[in-house]
Amino acid sequence: MNKAKSIYLALMALTCNAFAQDKAPVPTPHWRPAYHFTPAKNWTNDPNGLIFLNGEFNLYYQHNPFENKWGHMSWGHATSKDLISWKHLPVAIPEVISHDTTTWIYSGSAVLDVKNTSGFGINGKPPLVAVFTADQPNQKKESQFIAYSNDGGLSFKQYAKNPVIDLHMRDFRDPNVFWYEPTKQWVMTVSMVDDHMVRFYGSKNLKDWTKLSDFGPAGYTKNGWECPSLLPLVVDGDQKNIKWVLFVSLGGEHGPLIQYFVGDFDGTTFTSITDKSKVMKVDYGDAFYAAIAWRDAPENKKILLGWLQNGRQETYPWKGQMSIPHDLSLKTTDEGLVLNQLPSVFVTRSLSKYANGKPIEKKNVAVTDKGLKLPTNSNAYWIDAEIDLKNAKKAGLNVVEKPGTDKKVRVGYDIEKQELFVDCTTSEKNNKSPENLLQTAPMNITGGVLKIKVLVDGSSLEVFGNDGEKVISTMIYPDQDATGVSAFADGEAVIKSLKMWGLKGKS
Ligand code: FRU
Repeated sequence: MNKAKSIYLALMALTCNAFAQDKAPVPTPHWRPAYHFTPAKNWTNDPNGLIFLNGEFNLYYQHNPFENKWGHMSWGHATSKDLISWKHLPVAIPEVISHDTTTWIYSGSAVLDVKNTSGFGINGKPPLVAVFTADQPNQKKESQFIAYSNDGGLSFKQYAKNPVIDLHMRDFRDPNVFWYEPTKQWVMTVSMVDDHMVRFYGSKNLKDWTKLSDFGPAGYTKNGWECPSLLPLVVDGDQKNIKWVLFVSLGGEHGPLIQYFVGDFDGTTFTSITDKSKVMKVDYGDAFYAAIAWRDAPENKKILLGWLQNGRQETYPWKGQMSIPHDLSLKTTDEGLVLNQLPSVFVTRSLSKYANGKPIEKKNVAVTDKGLKLPTNSNAYWIDAEIDLKNAKKAGLNVVEKPGTDKKVRVGYDIEKQELFVDCTTSEKNNKSPENLLQTAPMNITGGVLKIKVLVDGSSLEVFGNDGEKVISTMIYPDQDATGVSAFADGEAVIKSLKMWGLKGKS
């Protein structure tokens, strides 16, 4: 584990211990998201082994089955048909304890071995193979293990000859595997954490792996690299134009950061066309981390899911949640080829099923400096809006407003700075470090019109600007009665259109 992460976890442990010693944990149902994944109880961090099987999205996740804090790392498991409503299943890969070794099941991926290259299949049924890091804290060692499932992913057996890759290193983790048809082999990306490198391996059978190449150091290198993955993405909607994107998670200047590189992959080497001195951010907030994708979803969608890090607040009886799943693509812009991310269409298509009645709609309504109230009585909602800034320098939406106070979170656009912003200054002082109270993303708007999607769900806030060009995700902890929503402008602005769905809890 890298330094930033261990400091973060040590701080969390301190908070948790103080919490545990002082008083019994206080349930926080008002911070439980209604349409994002959380474990029924206890801790989660990274998403793992994302795979679409038999009409269902499978989500495995870093999980402590026993406590509401990091530890006993195992793979929790849940499935969903629409990425909103999740069925909680038993722990799929538990930690392994023997007389002298504890093996924690760290992050990794899962593949359906359709051709049974591994030989783990039985009765002609392809096995599901999980490839993950075995962290052995007593040995201060990380190596890559595999485990296989013959019951559709409910339970896994550890491969008898594990590890499949062992460099005798302390920090070497998070394998992400996919089938590369042109060379007819499995390809793995895995993190050489402290070298700030992604190592590529190839295998014909998921058991014997040969080194292919290294990528890095590049981009941001001040902290250890984790959770690498390489994805082929469609450019400008042209299914025949594919570029590869390499994602790497790491601690940034003000918290978690996921950087990406756009380039080409020839089956052996990834070549970046992104300037290696540039840091391209997947998300501009302080929460989105360790994201990997469902690479085999229907309609050729590549769907990215991240862990939203909790910040300093306790939630109970669960801790940690996943982001809204993002559909990914690449877009040609003035900045070159950049990542575009929108809430997955699988989510948006099902949204009305979870809505409290019809959405609230506004069209061509003026917002003055007095603001404009929008009716809501909970903190689970989704807003799609287009706001014409006219002569306002700043305009947008206030969410989680607490009546009778100035507590709120402002989401908007600053014309002078050309920035999308999330301003938590009045409400999150206790939960965020001062430099994270205002989170911004550089963004141009056309014709003075801001297009945003604002997703508030219990304790998370995700903002998508300009049809997915920029994303800011963060955790917020509004008081139970802080359910106000309004539009603001420091001059004259017009809500060209707005739709707001109130969303009800699903499980
Ligand atoms: C990222 C990470 C991974 C590791 C896992 C352990 O958050 O540190 O590198 O596999 O969490 O829980």
